Amino acid sequence: MAACYHGFDPAAYLQYNYTAPRADFKRQDSIVPWKLGCLHRAFTEGDVSGELLVDIGSGPTLYQVLSGCEVFNRVILTDFLEVNRQELRRWLRDEGDCGLDWTPYLQHVCKLEGRQPSVWTEKAARLRAVVSDILPVDVHHPQPLAPGALSSVGADCLVSCFCLESVSPDLAAFTRALGHIQGLLRPGGHLLLIGALGESYYFGGPGVKIPVVPLNEAEVCASLKETGFTLIRLEVYTLPQDMRVGVDDVSGVFFVKAKKE
Ligand SMILES: C[S@@+](CC[C@H](N)C(=O)[O-])C[C@H]1O[C@@H](n2cnc3c(N)ncnc32)[C@H](O)[C@@H]1O
Repeated sequence: MAACYHGFDPAAYLQYNYTAPRADFKRQDSIVPWKLGCLHRAFTEGDVSGELLVDIGSGPTLYQVLSGCEVFNRVILTDFLEVNRQELRRWLRDEGDCGLDWTPYLQHVCKLEGRQPSVWTEKAARLRAVVSDILPVDVHHPQPLAPGALSSVGADCLVSCFCLESVSPDLAAFTRALGHIQGLLRPGGHLLLIGALGESYYFGGPGVKIPVVPLNEAEVCASLKETGFTLIRLEVYTLPQDMRVGVDDVSGVFFVKAKKE
């Protein structure tokens, strides 16, 4: 699978998935607002708490930690590819020349939090303040992060979006990878997992076709059970026809809130 990621183009990936129609903040049925709504609810229900939030397979994106950065004092972002870690660093250091303007995302999440969209700069500053590291990760390794990257207690919460199924050749590898990241979480910690349903490929750039293990809801639930998670909630989004824009063959998206036993 590592070879499939040669040529991954962060700017193209952001363009394919994180601009309209998939990120249309005026539409209730657009995929990005749906994901942001799920994450906002999960982080504000009161049961997810602690010191450290770790995002597994961040890619070049930040949307997945925009709610969590208000709850946790420390956030670690991770990705397998240096080009993605570079893209994240550029935004965090406010160096300009970023692949995507995250302003509408910051404004939207401020709105979800009952704040004026105009205070988005405060959220951007908060995120820049709490992200302590951007680390390499390999979910196929029994220890996905370098030894000593986390304290022996582990993270209080993990978030991971569209990573495990996009790097696993089959369901067994997906479940193994889930087991590996489970090891990074403290007992009683939460997992927020977002992923593709029924997807067999996506484009990581022009001509960069990456295979994906097609999953259904029952398989996701079985993998969670097998790896020691208790499911709290599973929500499913079905892609409207006009969100099927030719950059993948995804049919739906799942959102999981689970707890490590
Ligand atoms: C579909 S992207 C998801 C990116 C982002 N989380 C999102 O929500 O759009 C899959 C990500 O998995 C990363 N990846 C590839 N191989 C990996 C591995 N062995 N372990 C962890 N992440 C990997 C890729 O670099 C890519 O950023």
